[in-house]
Amino acid sequence: MLRAAVCVSGGGTNLQAIIDGIAQGAVAHTEIVRVLCNNPGARALERAKEAGIETVCVSPKDYADRAQFEEALVRSVDEVSPDLIVLAGFMVKVPVEMIKKYENRIINIHPSLIPAFCGTGYYGIRVHEAALARGVKITGATVHFVDEGMDTGPIIKQKAVKVYENDTPESLQKRVMEEAEWVLLPWCINHIAAGKVKVENGRVTVME
Ligand code: GRF
Repeated sequence: MLRAAVCVSGGGTNLQAIIDGIAQGAVAHTEIVRVLCNNPGARALERAKEAGIETVCVSPKDYADRAQFEEALVRSVDEVSPDLIVLAGFMVKVPVEMIKKYENRIINIHPSLIPAFCGTGYYGIRVHEAALARGVKITGATVHFVDEGMDTGPIIKQKAVKVYENDTPESLQKRVMEEAEWVLLPWCINHIAAGKVKVENGRVTVME
């Protein structure tokens, strides 16, 4: 059984996709052992509680400095001995200590086809604003392992989504979530749980 810790900050729709995937059997051999959040008011926390999943809120506001916050975050993860850490809309830069400790065991969902529209400053609706401003005809989402960079880790899987002439950032964000993010993340977790995902020299191979 894969022990997954899921880190969230906002609406939690990607967390919900994982919860639903486990309930429907699309995500096999996986248990969400803890949901961690940096934002006490996040809807994602309610989704976890409704699913009976233990939650921990680790907010930077509760600590004297960044180092103490990061220490508390890493401790909250270590406590549940996860096999996999899933960043599902987590708006906190993962501490280097955690990345080193969980090398190739932290995954992130990003709402573009990396390397487009990613890195510092590209998050949430801003990603879709940039895609529309550039006039791309195809965008999508990417699930990747987390390394010490920002959205630079080995790519596991991507899914493309068409951009329509009349798209707004909001309509595009909604379609990328529905058609790509909520499909990709459960799919990747299911394949990781089945031992079908390998990383060698920074390249990922997935046995379909
Ligand atoms: C998603 O668009 C995800 O790609 C990005 O942040 C957003 C989180 O949404 N990383 P939610 O909290 O999963 O609803």
